[in-house]
Amino acid sequence: MTHLPKTCLVTAALFALIGMGWGIVMSASADHSLSPAHGHLNLIGFVALSIAGLYYAVSPDAARSRLGWAHYGLSVLAVIVLVPGIAMAISGQGEALAKAGSVLAILAMALFGWVVLRFGAGRSAG
Ligand code: HEM
Repeated sequence: MTHLPKTCLVTAALFALIGMGWGIVMSASADHSLSPAHGHLNLIGFVALSIAGLYYAVSPDAARSRLGWAHYGLSVLAVIVLVPGIAMAISGQGEALAKAGSVLAILAMALFGWVVLRFGAGRSAG
């Protein structure tokens, strides 16, 4: 038994709640300047992590693996670094964090691809 699917999905819901709250604030203030950061929070934080959570729910070998947890950790770190990084880049405060976050994000996705290749998809992984 592993908590990885639930952890991914709960984290995704948290990111979505923050992202949607941010969207409401943008709408209410009529200031959409940070919408790319909002979009990446929702798409990488909610959509990608939800898809991963559903994958781990149907692929128990992957869900039990250390690689799966490493993928989860790297994905969360990527969101935490990339989203403020994009907001800082847009508001002229430098691009270093956005660059670091984008490297983390691509590494996380590459690791997810490796997990799928290594453990397969579904119960009879192979
Ligand atoms: C309460 C829910 C949400 C609200 C109020 C909201 C609000 C907004 C607003 C005001 C914009 C800027 C639009 C513009 O300037 O043209 C925007 C952009 C965007 N939103 Fe949301 N949003 C919500 C949820 C979501 C979700 C769930 C996703 C993805 C799963 C998402 C993805 C995006 C994307 C990709 C953009 C465009 C980013 C860009 O290219 O600048 N949003 N949203």
